[in-house]
Formats: sequence, structure tokens, C-alpha cells
Amino acid sequence: MDRPEKKNALTRVMYDQMAEALEDANTNDDVRVSMILGGPGAFTAGNDIADFLKFAQTGEGLGMEVIRFLKAIACSQKPVIAVVDGLAIGVGVTMLFHCDMVFATPRSQLKTPFLDLGLVPEAGSSLLAPALMGYQRAFEMLCLGVPFDADAAWRAGLVNHIVGEDVIEETAMQAVRLLASKPQEALALARNFMRGDRTAVTERLEAESAAFRVRLRSEEAQAALSAFMARSKT
Ligand code: COA
Repeated sequence: MDRPEKKNALTRVMYDQMAEALEDANTNDDVRVSMILGGPGAFTAGNDIADFLKFAQTGEGLGMEVIRFLKAIACSQKPVIAVVDGLAIGVGVTMLFHCDMVFATPRSQLKTPFLDLGLVPEAGSSLLAPALMGYQRAFEMLCLGVPFDADAAWRAGLVNHIVGEDVIEETAMQAVRLLASKPQEALALARNFMRGDRTAVTERLEAESAAFRVRLRSEEAQAALSAFMARSKT
């Protein structure tokens, strides 16, 4: 993700490109592992709020790109590794629930302000977060919306390793190389057993997505999104 001037907020084009890369990896023998990177200090500030606001106000401007990306990462047939340095907001957090390994720097802050924006958790997180970290901690993350620092995210099981920003990419690459050196058929089988049938996850992310779109048109969401855009202009 490379849009530093907007803290890597994700546009429809960016979702499409990421979905395409993940889909291609499934059938491309040259790809053994996918890696998701942001930039120094910002993994991603989540969905582009201008796109959300446009849909909230007009009912237009949000296509199927987000859901394409979410399904691609949820159903990826190859391992996906994330490198988080700094801010991870909204989908920047919920995409991590689909990753096989997550590396984060000590300065990372993971935050899901869905409720504050009048929205609901997405990306299957309402299913995956309680399963990973227990209901109460998931509630604190997804409903209270408090930031989880790297240590809290590690304790919650969402982050594998906390690594300094100067070495995080190389450390993650070591795991990538190790995975790439494994017998690939055995790895695919092991991974499929561990991740299980993805039907429940894709059904949940579709249901959340439908609710999310309805919520975007709500007065609560319109007020919160307008307030953010007004703030960013001053
Ligand atoms: N969508 C669109 N633009 C965004 C954005 C987003 N999700 N997040 C940040 N930006 C833009 C800001 O509008 C600003 O643009 P400008 O310079 O043209 O005004 C630029 O990125 C830098 O952000 P800024 O707010 O000045 O940086 P900051 O360090 O003070 O704060 C954040 C960074 C990420 C904490 C803050 O921008 C934020 O809360 N963003 C919204 C996150 C969010 O709610 N995402 C949706 C989750 S569902």
C-alpha cells in the first residue's frame, strides 16, 4: 500500500490491485507467499473516507472492490504475511485476521473506529476476532474501539512478533524465505486443515458488508464521516 500523503487510505483501485495480486498468487507457481506492506509509520488508515462519504450521501461510489479484496485474502491459497509499522485502522486491522503471520513494530497502533463512524465491523472480524482473542477483548477492540498497541495485539494473538522498524522487513522476509523453502503441496494441505472451510467466514463478511452499506447511508455515519472530511480540510 503506497499512498503516503493519505496515510495509505485505500481507494477502490488499490483494493482491486491487491485483490488481483492475491488471486494471481493462487494460480501462479512463481508465487509462494504474499506479503502486505505499508510505509514507515502508516500501514493503512483504512478505507478512503471520501469514498465512504460519497456513498453515504449519494448511494454511489462504492463498488465490489472491497469485497473482492476481502474474499481474495480470506480464501487465499498461499500464505499471506503482513508487515505493520505504525497506524493500522479499520480494514488495516481486520485484514490482519486473515493473514497467516503478522509482524509489527513497537510504535504500531491498531484501531477499529467502526462504531464511532456509525458503522459495523467488517471483513469477517465479528466472527474471527472473538474466535482469536475471546469475546471480551474482541468487544473492546471492535465495539469500544480502543487502540491496541503492538504489545496488546501480540497478547491478543493477532501479532506474531514485535520487531524494530529498521529490521522488520528483513525479519518478515526470513519467514517468507522459510515458507517458500517448504514442500509446497504439504504446506497447502496443512494450511487448508488449519484454516478450515472458509464458507462461514465468507458468509459472515458478506452479511457484514450488506449491513455496512446500509449503515453508511445512516444519519449517524453521514455526520461522523462529514466531520472527518471537514476536519481534514482545516
Ligand atoms: N481516508 C481519506 N483520507 C485520509 C484517511 C482516510 N481513511 N486517513 C487519513 N487521511 C488523510 C487526511 O485527510 C489528510 O489529508 P490532507 O492532508 O489532504 O488533509 C492526510 O491523510 C493525513 O492525515 P492526518 O489526519 O492529517 O494525519 P494524522 O497523523 O493527524 O492522523 C489518522 C492520522 C489516520 C489517525 C487520521 O487521519 C484518521 O483518523 N483517519 C481516519 C481513519 C479512519 O477512520 N478510517 C476508516 C476506518 S473504517
